Amino acid sequence: MTDDGTKKKSDVSVIWGGRFAGGPGLEMEEINASINFDKRLYAQDIAASKAHAEMLQSRSIISDDDADAILSGLDSILAEIEAGEFAYNRQLEDIHMNVESRLRELIGDAAGRLHTARSRNDQVATGFRLWVRDALDQLDGALRELQSALIGQSETHVASVMPGFTHLQTAQPITLGHHLLAYVEMLGRDRGRAADCRKRLNECPLGAVALAGTSFAIDRNLTAEALGFDRPAANSVDAVSDRDFALEYLSTVVIVCVHLSRLAEELVIWSSQQFGYVALGDAFTTGSSIMPQKRNPDAAELIRAKAGRTIGALNTLLIVLKGLPMSYSKDMQEDKEPVFDAHDTVMLCLAAMTGMVAGAAFNTERIAADAGKGFSTATDLADWLVRALGLTFRDAHHITGELVKMAEDKDTTLEALELADMQSIEAGITAEAYDVLGVENSVSSRVSYGGTAPEIVRQAVKRAQQRFLG
Ligand code: ARG
Repeated sequence: MTDDGTKKKSDVSVIWGGRFAGGPGLEMEEINASINFDKRLYAQDIAASKAHAEMLQSRSIISDDDADAILSGLDSILAEIEAGEFAYNRQLEDIHMNVESRLRELIGDAAGRLHTARSRNDQVATGFRLWVRDALDQLDGALRELQSALIGQSETHVASVMPGFTHLQTAQPITLGHHLLAYVEMLGRDRGRAADCRKRLNECPLGAVALAGTSFAIDRNLTAEALGFDRPAANSVDAVSDRDFALEYLSTVVIVCVHLSRLAEELVIWSSQQFGYVALGDAFTTGSSIMPQKRNPDAAELIRAKAGRTIGALNTLLIVLKGLPMSYSKDMQEDKEPVFDAHDTVMLCLAAMTGMVAGAAFNTERIAADAGKGFSTATDLADWLVRALGLTFRDAHHITGELVKMAEDKDTTLEALELADMQSIEAGITAEAYDVLGVENSVSSRVSYGGTAPEIVRQAVKRAQQRFLG
């Protein structure tokens, strides 16, 4: 609609408009245009155009003069965009046509030769792949930063005992360093997924043209190599319709965000007054407008919530792509916003989480005081009964259960039970059993590979530094 409420046809003669008498209606223009978001592909679009022009030149499909004009024109456009001086026009639909139209303004008719042996279908597939490849590299860097912050805290807390939980019930004592290294492993797998995605993504669609390839004597290896791809995509129909790389990127992001949401949830719980395990610091908390005493873990809560947003992005693209026939359909223009949004979201969440982890002050005394609560060393006692008295683990488990019940009835701990009381349940128990009931002993006894003993965690920190930060 125009200001006076009448419908108006676009007044720009569009690049594909040869057989059209009028321009698109305004609603058509609005639903069709992607420039508002796909302008984020400008650098990749221009890089791919330059590679294409150089290839056309080397195959003598365009003249040296035209190629030179195209290349310097594209450089000027890149500079204009980066200086914020480029005038985007919605009537030119997308970044590809905005760039080409500006090229025509700058160099005249030679601009029309750039689209030889090319289509927007292979153009967008190439530009978007390049963008997602950059996104994967950024994601990997940000994951590494968070791993580094977590490994730093783990190193500080290799021997700080804490209650380990299952079902959020006290299970067995572990060390805080060991707990935090669990997240380092998760993020390591995330980086592995990003690397896998990058490998599969790294084939070049350029030269697939609309869907069928071309009769021009192009060299697809040349463009693939110039853009850092491993090889040209093998099938032209697949090349213009494949968005697996975007789905894989979103899946990777979603799993990262699910991991972050679990850590965020722990920080929310641990920073509560009831737990009091961690102080998150001023940079990542907020006060309440009414309750002066409050310090709310907003950043952690938002990280927890934003996982939902990225899951939504993955769902969106899955649903856009499902059932689409070969090859390109305009539906696929809807692939970009979910990917851009998910990328921005995960990068922000990773930055915030890295800051929060690096600045977290753990209250080790309070955490240690909880480590022995809830009969957390009962398993150690059962293990002792197996080792010292030769009982089966099942019998030892049963006896220990009775001892826990006795301690519960007396409102005391296992360690505080009299030896005679213990012996009334199992006559073979000796004073040595008390040694295994201490939290420190419990933790340092767990020397199995991947276990929580401080000496093992110290080695695990070293290995993590080599594996992930080396
Ligand atoms: N803006 C379009 C997209 O993102 C570019 C490809 C358009 N192709 C076409 N045949 N209309 O998908």
